[in-house]
Amino acid sequence: MKVLITGGAGFIGCHVVKLMVKKYPHYQIFNLDKLTYAGNLENLTEIENASNYTFIKGDIIDKAFIRELFQQEKFDGVMHLAAESHVDRSISGPDAFIETNIIGTSNLLGAALEIWKDNMSGKQFHHVSTDEVFGSLGAEGYFSETTAYDPRSPYSSSKASSDMIVRAYHHTYGLPIVITNCSNNYGSHQFPEKLIPLMINNIKHNKPLPVYGKGENIRDWLWVEDHARALDVVFHTGKNGETYCIGGNNEWKNIDLVHALCSIMDRKLNRAEGESAKLITYVKDRAGHDMRYAIDATKIKNELGWEPTQPFEKLLEGTVDWYLANESWMNNITSGQYQAYYESQYEKR
Ligand code: NAD
Ligand code: DAU
Repeated sequence: MKVLITGGAGFIGCHVVKLMVKKYPHYQIFNLDKLTYAGNLENLTEIENASNYTFIKGDIIDKAFIRELFQQEKFDGVMHLAAESHVDRSISGPDAFIETNIIGTSNLLGAALEIWKDNMSGKQFHHVSTDEVFGSLGAEGYFSETTAYDPRSPYSSSKASSDMIVRAYHHTYGLPIVITNCSNNYGSHQFPEKLIPLMINNIKHNKPLPVYGKGENIRDWLWVEDHARALDVVFHTGKNGETYCIGGNNEWKNIDLVHALCSIMDRKLNRAEGESAKLITYVKDRAGHDMRYAIDATKIKNELGWEPTQPFEKLLEGTVDWYLANESWMNNITSGQYQAYYESQYEKR
């Protein structure tokens, strides 16, 4: 099988590429990535020389290039992760989100249809999406596959649009598709614009810990390697045309999670208990900040047998250990452009 993974140099993508390359030595795995600020080939060094792996630098917005690539390689399956993924960036600059997340997805669908239209058998287009398409929950309830879409940020509305276009290709042209909507991921190799690696890095350097609003927003955290496992399962055994919600069954208020990180870091850095928490600084809230996300992952558990690994505290500590042990990875990322981004996001808060 020839499988194209898009966005494989990013956070989740690199875990998916590594899993697929190692688990399926008889497949040919292609990783297509533009290498934006979020894409980093250093994430893939352990498989970069594998004989069943090929990296292609390219932009999914470039329709002619995508069409030619599909014509040339005749992929059997696509796992589509490439996206602009950070909500704060979508607020300060929505255009790139519309282009990559909507137009880029549409280009991939068109190119896949072109090469598969005469024989759809054994083909799979797996669109990797987010729980943010469902909007924001109050104190009660969960998102599931039947929840109505209600996206509120430029990021989530661009992902919701792409989900709709994927479904349209299924219903109109019969394209074999599956969609997954996952909750917040954490783990190694996450760009430090996202909550957990940003806090770990700031705690380490004794910098203020910027908690938005009152820190009461809730997210459902899933270990990235569990997400990669779920994507493998859905890609191979998901029912044609179906959606699967993926979550960690692991809700945390932001402020409680930041305190948990502070406490782990106090131990790791031999600081007195409570020392790192003194860095917590409440800053201006994110515009349109969704209050709570939580996933009911019963369908994927009952139908496909996937469940998250536990316990969270141990996996979170392992995540902290990874960032502490991979100082050069973090230093390479946080030099240059990241610094300018950080200043522009946080100086005004
Ligand atoms: P990321 O920002 O870490 O990585 C995105 C990757 O896509 C990068 O390697 C980047 O270079 C590449 N890319 C961006 N624009 C591109 C373009 N035009 N052409 C080709 N490549 C391009 O993102 P992530 O956190 O790994 O998320 C991956 C996917 O999973 C996204 O679709 C996201 O919406 C979804 N998702 C993420 C989370 C999460 O918690 N991070 C949760 C649920 C779903
Ligand atoms: O739910 C899935 C989504 O999770 C994915 O689709 C997105 O790609 C991913 O970025 C993530 O979105 P969030 O906005 O939930 O993640 P983020 O890490 O940016 O923020 C998590 C929470 O922490 C959110 O309530 C905002 C808050 N926050 C974030 C940052 C970066 C802070 O309080 N301070 C911060 O500095």
